[in-house]
This record gives sequence, C-alpha cells and structure tokens, in this order.
Amino acid sequence: TLAPELKDMSPEKLLAPVLSAFWDEDRSWTLDVYKRHEGYEGLRKALAMSPDDVIAYVKESGLRGRGGAGFPTGMKWQFIPQGDGKPHYLVVNADESEPGTCKDIPLLFANPHSLIEGIVIACYAIRSSHAFIYLRGEVVPVLRRLHEAVREAYAAGLLGENILGSGLDLTLTVHAGAGAYICGEETALLDSLEGRRGQPRLRPPFPAVAGLYACPTVVNNVESIASVPAIMNRGKEWFRSMGSEKSPGFTLYSLSGHVTNPGQYEAPLGITLRQLLEMSGGMRQGHRLKFWTPGGSSTPLLTDEHLDVPLDYEGVGAAGSMLGTKALQCFDETTCVVRAVTRWTEFYAHESCGKCTPCREGTYWLVQLMRDIEAGKGQMSDLDKLNDIADNINGKAFCALGDGAASPIFSSLKHFREEYEQHITGRGCPFDPAKSTAWA
Ligand code: NAI
Repeated sequence: TLAPELKDMSPEKLLAPVLSAFWDEDRSWTLDVYKRHEGYEGLRKALAMSPDDVIAYVKESGLRGRGGAGFPTGMKWQFIPQGDGKPHYLVVNADESEPGTCKDIPLLFANPHSLIEGIVIACYAIRSSHAFIYLRGEVVPVLRRLHEAVREAYAAGLLGENILGSGLDLTLTVHAGAGAYICGEETALLDSLEGRRGQPRLRPPFPAVAGLYACPTVVNNVESIASVPAIMNRGKEWFRSMGSEKSPGFTLYSLSGHVTNPGQYEAPLGITLRQLLEMSGGMRQGHRLKFWTPGGSSTPLLTDEHLDVPLDYEGVGAAGSMLGTKALQCFDETTCVVRAVTRWTEFYAHESCGKCTPCREGTYWLVQLMRDIEAGKGQMSDLDKLNDIADNINGKAFCALGDGAASPIFSSLKHFREEYEQHITGRGCPFDPAKSTAWA
C-alpha cells in the first residue's frame, strides 16, 4: 500500500520538485540563478554547526544513497575515522551508466551548483580538504558545464581557501572517466581515479576505511550529495515529511521506454508506477504495460501486476525486486522479453571487467544461450541451464555487476517462462519485430 502521507497528496504536491525545480529556467546552471533558488543557504547553515552535528543531522534526516544501494548517507559519513592523521577524501560517483538510468547527468547539466554546495557541506562534515567528481567521459557538454560551475564557485569564494570565512579549505577536482560501466562500481572507480585499470577491489576494507590512495574515503552518488543542501536549508523534518518512515524524502525517477512522455520525474519515495504514469501521460497510446524495471536492468523485472508497488526500498523489495537507481524502463505488449533480456545480457558480458571467473565466463555463456533461444535454436533444457549459470554468478562474483547480469535472467524466467518456451517450440520469435520499437 501507498505510504499514508502520499495517499491524499494532490498530483501537484506529489511532483513537487526540489532538485529539478528550475531546470527550465534560462541559464539554470549558473551561480546567479542557483542563488535565486536558496543556493548556498544550506551551506551557511551547515557551517554554523559543528562537523559532527552536520553528520548527525544528515543521519537523522534519513537520507539514503541514491546510487542504487540505498545505504544511509549520514552513517557512511560517520564511518570516516577522525583524528587518524590521514587525509580524508570525498569522491562523487558521477559515472552513471546503469541501463535506463538518466538522472545524475541531467541534474549536473541543469543544476551543477546543487552538487558543488553538497560537496562543500559533506567535506566540512567529514573533515576533507580534497574532493573529486568522477564523471562519465562521454558526456562532454556536461563536463564543460561542470568545469564552468566549479570555476564560478572558486571565484565566489565557495571553493578554495577559507570558504565563506569558515576556515574550511577545499580543492575540487573534476575527472572524466573513459566510459566503462565497471568504473561506476565504487572501488573500480577509485582504481581508475588513481590511474590504474578500473577493476573492483575486494571489500572489506570498505572505502570508508581504505579508499582513495588507501585513505578513508566517502564515495557518494551525485543525487545523494545534491540532496543535502535542501535538507540543511529546509530542515530534516521537511525532508521526513515526504516518502515513508524508512525511505524518506524526494528523489529523481528516470521514466523511459514505451511511455508517452519519457524523462526525469521528481517525486517522494513511495509513489507508485501507476501514479507516475497517470501524471506523466501514461503508456504510449493504445498500448499497455507488459514489464518494467524499478531500477534499471540490474534489478529484477516486474510486471503489470506490480503497478501499485510503493517505489521505496522496502516496497520494491517486498515485491521481489530492488529500487536501485529508480530507472523505470517500461515495455509494452509488443516487446519480446527474450529479445530484451538478450540485449541486456550482451551488455553485461561486454562490460564485465574479466577479473573474476563467474562473471567473465558466466555472462559469456548466458549470451550464447540467450542468442540461441531468441533465434529459435534453443532447447527446453537451456532454460534450466540459464537458471543454473545465473545461479553460479549471483552472489559469487567479485562485485554487483554479476548479480545485475543474473537479475533479468531469473526474473524473466519467473514471470515469462511461457514466452521462452514459445521461442523453443515455435522455433523462433513469436513477436513481429516491425511492431516493436524497443530494440530496433
Ligand atoms: P553495497 O550495498 O555493497 O554498498 C553500498 C555502499 O555502502 C557502498 O558505498 C559501501 O562502501 C557502503 N558500505 C556497505 N557496507 C559497509 C560497511 N560495513 N562499512 C562501510 N561502508 C559500507 O552496494 P554497491 O555494490 O556499492 O552498489 C550496488 C548498487 O549499485 C546496486 O544496488 C545497483 O542498483 C547500483 N548500480 C548503480 C549504477 C548507476 O549507474 N548508478 C550502475 C550499476 C549498479
């Protein structure tokens, strides 16, 4: 059921934007416009508190990591040991690449100062004097805009030495990656940032203990950090007034696929896909939802039976999936699920870094089987083989990429086994590719 506080909310309130409030405004990415919208007010309030109080405040707000795992942000900051004599680092993970996820990049493009302000607050709290933004390399226009926003912040005394007279010194480095999905995994990202080939490290130790250059490091997602200024400025109670008890606040959903109006929608956690579709114009005309992902292709598929699942960590978990990055990819009845899963599986096999055997070998064999089944050359025993291989990847790979590759296999077989069988008995795909626009 929907969180009680959401039930009576009007559509206007349900889609009350915070991070996306002025994306449509002329030159929204500039410091001037940001300052007209409460810009850097949260920082002023944070600097009037002690660093420990800022950490406690963010913890009490209930903010959870928006990169996919939902780990409590304040708790992550609290893990950073104090008085250890080592430098501490903040690394912002802007390597957004989960299929279907498109919220951090638009946020950076339209409102980069919300991230910069959040970075200054976080660095004050964890006592760090050097922060990094690791940005996906392909998004060159975003890189340029981010560089410009950082330059503006330095010129205005919001970065650099003695920020706003507080005694806080902070250097912010923007680093562009080279477009590898694995570099979004936090420890592979750190290796890449240090100049090595991006491959995941064994955890523990977690980055909070031994991260960048083996020093205590907080790795946070763009949206998590960009949400902090509004929490500091408007208050933790305001933040907690949205969403549910365990998943409070607002968030950015990426809506894509066979919908009338794809895009980014900001709404409280706990809203349902049905509500989001109703408010955004629904599925494309004349078609109905067949399956969807709550958080990109790494999260188990759900079906039209799950339209009323509250989109928060607990609700989606109870439905057998994960909220993940809140990337709602919607597919209508013209889509062949076998074809869709084949494409995703090819993606994971291509992006596997090759470090661990279950993922490197397993994703390769999943692709072979999926391609055969899609082409009508599969056998019934392949279905058990698919489950078996996925089972040998899931939880046994070095990092979450392997689990992500197994997810669409398990969930599509669970919900659409008949469709797989049709491909095998009918010796081909029962869908008319001309009618499907999903994977042209
Ligand atoms: P995780 O649950 O292992 O860790 C989450 C965070 O909590 C990490 O920063 C980790 O360092 C920290 N943490 C966890 N336990 C800790 C402990 N005991 N001590 C200190 N710190 C601790 O999840 P992971 O592997 O970092 O990320 C997986 C998620 O990433 C998936 O749920 C998926 O949705 C998401 N993802 C997002 C992508 C994107 O483009 N945004 C791409 C691919 C996956």
